[in-house]
Amino acid sequence: MAVTRVPLIAGNWKMNLDHLQSIAFVQKLAWSLRDAKHDYRACEVAVFPPFTDLRSVQTLVSADKLDLAYGAQDLSVHDSGAYTGEISGAFLAALDCRYVIIGHSERRQYHAESDELVAEKTLAAGRHGLVPVVCVGETADDLEKHGPSAVPVAQLDVVLQQLSGDADIVVAYEPVWAIGSGQAATPEQAQQVCAALRARIASTLGDEAAGRTRILYGGSVKAANIAGFMKQPDVDGALVGGASLDVDEFSAISRFRQHVGTA
Ligand code: 13P
Repeated sequence: MAVTRVPLIAGNWKMNLDHLQSIAFVQKLAWSLRDAKHDYRACEVAVFPPFTDLRSVQTLVSADKLDLAYGAQDLSVHDSGAYTGEISGAFLAALDCRYVIIGHSERRQYHAESDELVAEKTLAAGRHGLVPVVCVGETADDLEKHGPSAVPVAQLDVVLQQLSGDADIVVAYEPVWAIGSGQAATPEQAQQVCAALRARIASTLGDEAAGRTRILYGGSVKAANIAGFMKQPDVDGALVGGASLDVDEFSAISRFRQHVGTA
C-alpha cells in the first residue's frame, strides 16, 4: 500500500554545478529544509551531482551529519579494469552513495544505452549495495505509435528479468517528451503508467516487491505541480531536473506535503 512507501524527492543535476558550487548548494538546501523542520523520515530527499562533486558532498554530509541522501548519475557495468573514463560502483559505494541513476533517457539517447546495458548496470549497482534508480519512458513518437505505457513497461521488463524478488530498486518514469520541455505529464497520465509499471513488478517479482518499490515521476516537475503527482496512489516521488538546481524551488518540492495539505 502507498502508505508504507516513504516518498523520495530526487534532484538530478545532470552536468551542472562544479564541486565548489555543490558545497554551497547542499549547505543552503540543508538549511532551507532545517528551517522548514523537514521530516526526512516522512520524505527522503536526495541529490545526484556530477561524479566530480561526490567527494565534496560526502565530506559535507558526513561532517554536518546531514540527512540528505546522494547518488551518482551513472556507473560502469565493470567493477574495475582497463575501461578508460568509466566509474565503478565500488568507487561510488566508497563515497557512501546510497543511489545511482541508471538508464536516464539522455544516456539512452546520447550514449546509445540499450535496455540490456541498463539491466547490466542495475546488477552492477546491486553488487555494490547501491540502490539503482532505473529510468524508463517513452518518446512522443512512441506515445503516438504504442500508447502510454507499452514502451516504459517493456524497458522495465528487461531489467526485471535479471532481478529476484528481494531486489531493492527505485523506478523513475520519465516521459522523454516531458523532460526539460515545461510540458509535464498530467498527474493522471503519470498515475496510469506508474500503475502499469507496478503491475509488471508484481507479475515478475511478486506483490511484496511491487508493494515496497518506489516509483517516481520525472519531467518538468516544479513546486507548482508536485502536489498533483504526489496525490496519485502509484507515484511515490519525483526525479527533478531543472527545478532541482534552484535551492528554494527544490526545497519547496521536497515539502510537497505542505501543498497537498497534510504537513
Ligand atoms: P526536468 O525536470 O528538467 O524536466 O528533467 C527531468 C529529468 O530528466 C530528471 O532526471
